[in-house]
Amino acid sequence: MKLWGGRFTKEEDQAVHEFNESLSFDRRLYRHDIMGSIAHVKMLAKQGIVSEEDRDAIIAGLEGILKDIEEGKLEFTKEHEDIHSFVEANLTERIGEAGKRLHTGRSRNDQVALDMKLYCRDQADEISGLVKELEQVLLGVMEENLETYMPGFTHLQKAQPVTLAHHAGAYFEMFERDRGRLADLRKRMNRCPLGAGALAGTTYPLDREYTAELLEFDGPTYNSMDSVADRDYLIELLSALSVIAMHLSRFCEEIILWNSNEYRFVEIDDAYSTGSSIMPQKKNPDIAELVRGKTGRVYGALMSLLTTMKGIPLAYNKDMQEDKEVAFDAIDTVKNCLTLFTGMISTMTFRKDVMAASAKNGFANATDAADYLVNKGVPFRDAHGIVGQLVLYCIDKGIALDDMSLEEYKAVCPVFEEDIYDAISLKTCVEKRTVVGAPGPEAMKKVIEACRERLAGE
Ligand code: ARG
Repeated sequence: MKLWGGRFTKEEDQAVHEFNESLSFDRRLYRHDIMGSIAHVKMLAKQGIVSEEDRDAIIAGLEGILKDIEEGKLEFTKEHEDIHSFVEANLTERIGEAGKRLHTGRSRNDQVALDMKLYCRDQADEISGLVKELEQVLLGVMEENLETYMPGFTHLQKAQPVTLAHHAGAYFEMFERDRGRLADLRKRMNRCPLGAGALAGTTYPLDREYTAELLEFDGPTYNSMDSVADRDYLIELLSALSVIAMHLSRFCEEIILWNSNEYRFVEIDDAYSTGSSIMPQKKNPDIAELVRGKTGRVYGALMSLLTTMKGIPLAYNKDMQEDKEVAFDAIDTVKNCLTLFTGMISTMTFRKDVMAASAKNGFANATDAADYLVNKGVPFRDAHGIVGQLVLYCIDKGIALDDMSLEEYKAVCPVFEEDIYDAISLKTCVEKRTVVGAPGPEAMKKVIEACRERLAGE
């Protein structure tokens, strides 16, 4: 059944119907569509545009539809074009004449803009909650690993010693910014398009402030054409999701490396690993690889919508229906990735001994050896050269800086004394890094305190 049959003399072609319809995917907006309609009809009655009896009948009808959908008693039948037509047709079937008054002063253009905003607002909150859960797990890793030494890398070459707490803390910051982005876009999104009509507002005396308030918006949108033509909020959401996916993907890349036979820094739990059908020894990090891989489709959604929107003249055009499938897919994907990733991290074993050994064997303390000489009065550039020679010597012998005898040290530079061993121990290297943001446990403890407060903030 069509909402717009009056002007037409011919039936719609079946292929056209199938090409044009969106019910197969916008059905997931049913709750928000019904919520919006209830607010709209409350406002219509308050303004004397529909009677109180009609309002009550419409609300009861809409609530009945909601309940039936949720209990699986009402099927989304294919003849309807979209969720808006589906709900309205069902309403009229249930309550008769009054149902036909619901769409007074409204268009599907402001209706779909409203539904999508309500949906995105909920999703932004839900995703923010999932990010927070992950941050809580990371905070736990930070608290427990203030003295778990590991190499920090640049160019994937061992650079300077850090701790697992510090490494996890880097991701905490990324995810904290992600939550900030979600909160920020939610604020900008939170103006109600209802009342914009098809594009030019309406001649009925609608109270847009009232509907906005009923739906917990900060107020109505300011321009009716923009209200129905705007999908910025969705692009912003997809962009924030893309950044989340990028962060997860980087972390996954590290976990895949760390879980490899070469690194052995971590062991992913059996429950989050998979086997090979041919190689019996295999335990593969499929979940981390999939999360890394799925980043592509999240970016794809953002690119897709940006491209769809770029040539659309004001105001509503049907192209905009293409926002839904990609956005829904990206939202579902990121939610799944966050949930699985958090589970994987919280069950993963960190091999602290392997991490520390790796930090020790990779000359990660070479900068500290140079700093030692600087503290004894050697100019830094000379110190750099001396330690460079020591490293070359160690590589040749297959030993670490810590394994050299004092005689060997002195043979290269007489300034070295017995205290060199303490100066280049992993513990000292890390502990001496006390500036804010550095891995030294004292500095980290303060940062952890601040992280805890930021998490408790909202
Ligand atoms: N299904 C449509 C969409 O998702 C709803 C709006 C339809 N409006 C219209 N004028 N045909 O964009």
